[in-house]
Amino acid sequence: MTTATPDVKPSAVNPAPSKPRGGGLEGIVAGETAICSVEQGALIYRGYEIHDLAQNATFEEVAHLLLVGHKPSAADLKAFAQEIVAERALPPLVTEIIQKTAKLSHTVPMDTLRTAVSALAHLDPDCQSVDAAANLRKSKRLLAKIPTIIGHMQNVIDGKPIVQPEPSLGHAANLYWMMTGKKCSQQWARVLDVSLILYAEHDYNASTFAGRVISGTLSDMHGAVTGAIAALKGPLHGGANEAAMDMLREIMNDVGEGAIGTPKVDSWMQNAFDTKRKLMGFGHRVYKNGDHRAPILHNLGRAVAEKENPTLEGHNAVKWFELGEHVQKIMLDKKSIHPNVDFPCGMTYFTMGIPVPQYTPIFVAARIAGWAAHIMEQHANNRLIRPIADYKGPALKKWNAESRLTEAPDAMI
Ligand code: COA
Repeated sequence: MTTATPDVKPSAVNPAPSKPRGGGLEGIVAGETAICSVEQGALIYRGYEIHDLAQNATFEEVAHLLLVGHKPSAADLKAFAQEIVAERALPPLVTEIIQKTAKLSHTVPMDTLRTAVSALAHLDPDCQSVDAAANLRKSKRLLAKIPTIIGHMQNVIDGKPIVQPEPSLGHAANLYWMMTGKKCSQQWARVLDVSLILYAEHDYNASTFAGRVISGTLSDMHGAVTGAIAALKGPLHGGANEAAMDMLREIMNDVGEGAIGTPKVDSWMQNAFDTKRKLMGFGHRVYKNGDHRAPILHNLGRAVAEKENPTLEGHNAVKWFELGEHVQKIMLDKKSIHPNVDFPCGMTYFTMGIPVPQYTPIFVAARIAGWAAHIMEQHANNRLIRPIADYKGPALKKWNAESRLTEAPDAMI
């Protein structure tokens, strides 16, 4: 079976298919960074290209690279991993907050995660400091504790006892363990690990920029990360991995498994185009010729599906990938729009039995490395981030207090 997403690097030379439009700070250079370079031709973390990292590094190594600033030696990595394992447990107050909020009717896991991270600030001895050493200590604590928040939250949602962190497991395998109470295979742990590497950093994306704006006021790391989590939740950003899987479920329900590869899927898509619907997990502000990360995760996720092929909501995992590939082909043929990393993420996490509302929190578990690196970079060389706006409101007029009872109200702008 061929996949619709060949493992090729996006071209640096093909012209972007869509015209640039105004707004959204598109194409604006908003600052400098030594952490990451996002270009049509390559995605690079501190000098290392993403295919290289996905093939050869572990998430712990990448987190060290991003946070500490260099590739760890064996001794560095051992010490770093030990520190992270030692910081995994949550304070009772945060566990209580999770227990009290995770099942509230208007709450999704990203809300509980945001509140829990904010609550961690109250108990962190370094909370108020923006000093480099304090920031590094806080970033390691957040890196360690966010997976535990996700795990505890899922346990509460499932109505099961809290699963404590398992020190013998690496970052990804421990996250899976805490969420499900099951030890996953080495293959699954590696796929989850690679997904964390792919999600770890992406220069001035919306949530990182939000975090930099907050830290640029010399506010603290927990506050900046709390704001970044809120930004990531939106379906145009990190929330797209959940939205992409929900959309695929909708297509599967509407057309049925037997329609995969037939014009029925094309008709569904045509209807989406006709109604100007945004197809989640497609498109990107920077990558117009394909997201470097998408084929890497697609191929790994599909390999898991092919190996074990669990039945998911009545359909074999491979069928979900076949439907996804058909959708991708139509998007490319009809709209010249490529999938972003969130599209294969949805199918991959689905194959591994991870509940859909935890996909974006898992993105947080990875992106905390990038956010914290940017917050530290901002604090180390800070200038308040404060752009200006182009005023389009009414012309100057006089506020006449005497005539408030007789004058007609201002027209709404
Ligand atoms: N589905 C349908 N059409 C899409 C699309 C999508 N996912 N993404 C972009 N387009 C279309 C737009 O409608 C627009 O068409 P037009 O010029 O005819 O109006 C054109 O492609 C350019 O898109 P634009 O919205 O200007 O791109 P942007 O840079 O502002 O937005 C995203 C980028 C990521 C927000 C956008 O592609 C999107 O909403 N994708 C879906 C959500 C998603 O997957 N987000 C995760 C990003 S990693």
